[in-house]
Amino acid sequence: MSIWIAGTGSATPSLSVPNSEMTKFGDTSDEWITTATGIKERRVLSQDETLQGLVDKAAERALEAAGVVPKEVDLCIVATIAGDTLVPSTSSNVKRALHMERAVNFDLNMACSGFMYALWTAQSLMLANNFATAVVIGAEQLSRMTDWGDRSTFVLFGDAAAGCVLKNDMAGSGVLDINAKRGIIASDIRSHYDDTLCLQVSGLTTPTPFVDGEDLPHVVKMNGRAVFKFATAIMQEHIESVTKKAGMTIDDIDYFIPHQANQRIVAHVAKVLGIPMEKMFLNVHKYGNTSAASVPLALDEFMRSGNARAGQNLLMVAFGGGLSSASCVVKV
Ligand code: UT7
Repeated sequence: MSIWIAGTGSATPSLSVPNSEMTKFGDTSDEWITTATGIKERRVLSQDETLQGLVDKAAERALEAAGVVPKEVDLCIVATIAGDTLVPSTSSNVKRALHMERAVNFDLNMACSGFMYALWTAQSLMLANNFATAVVIGAEQLSRMTDWGDRSTFVLFGDAAAGCVLKNDMAGSGVLDINAKRGIIASDIRSHYDDTLCLQVSGLTTPTPFVDGEDLPHVVKMNGRAVFKFATAIMQEHIESVTKKAGMTIDDIDYFIPHQANQRIVAHVAKVLGIPMEKMFLNVHKYGNTSAASVPLALDEFMRSGNARAGQNLLMVAFGGGLSSASCVVKV
């Protein structure tokens, strides 16, 4: 238990779009969206906002909560499929904006599971390299990658950035602090090839003098029902396996922080595993599915809520495109 969450932070666009506005873009209704997903509104980037602006703010807030100054950061990972620029990467941009001078940085793409993969990667790199401090962010602007003519997807997504600062109790000494009272206790990372959720890169289909091609729209295509089926089964598997790996039972978990894709998915898993819904932290009604930002956005809201207490066991679990899935148990 040597890598622990020292602070969390998030940032969302100022524009909130309620379900009633969604009816302008297609044949849908507040009633359908609420019943099918639990979503009531989502935040959407407007003209004068950028994803990078949200990433910079989320990182700044996490550093402030952790009491860490940017020049102390050794590692910065941003999980995203949607940075404003591919090169420099989103992590390079936040490193420059916040002056994290010595940080090693890179972006990671694992769709909605991206933050959880980044957390696991950061933990591994911190242990391998004796890094003391890392910033891990999940950020997505799916409103820019959504087919606003496809009602089966445009009602689901929102934009956000959120993340945390990790600290390493072992750094410097190289000795594991077995008395540490907090930290990431166990992780479970999986990938399962399946193309039920896809996003083509439009620029890569542009014709060249050597290759025929056509400009394809850069939008998410999803078989919702298939993803729903995968999500309910894999979340159940993860909760069972990662608690076991942590040497715990499901009852030892104080709160679950699940990927916020659909309230029905979470309710189904809770019912099957006998978990009271009060233990499932949900904010999907306010933000929709923010992909890689979803778990850290919920984590940040939970940590700043009246329910968070030192020593609690939290279980974070995500699933998404790839298909991919990941979970961890952390004592805060
Ligand atoms: O982050 C990971 C990625 N994604 C997910 O986790 C999504 C997982 N899947 C889901 O959350 C659900 O499958 C959805 C919310 C996407 C869809 O809910 P569903 O209950 O599986 O609906 P469905 O796709 O089976 O469609 C049922 C009906 C269809 O009409 P018919 O064929 O029964 O007449 C759809 O055309 O609902 C219709 N429909 C809509 N109606 C009103 C689909 N989207 C809408 C809409 N408004 N926005």
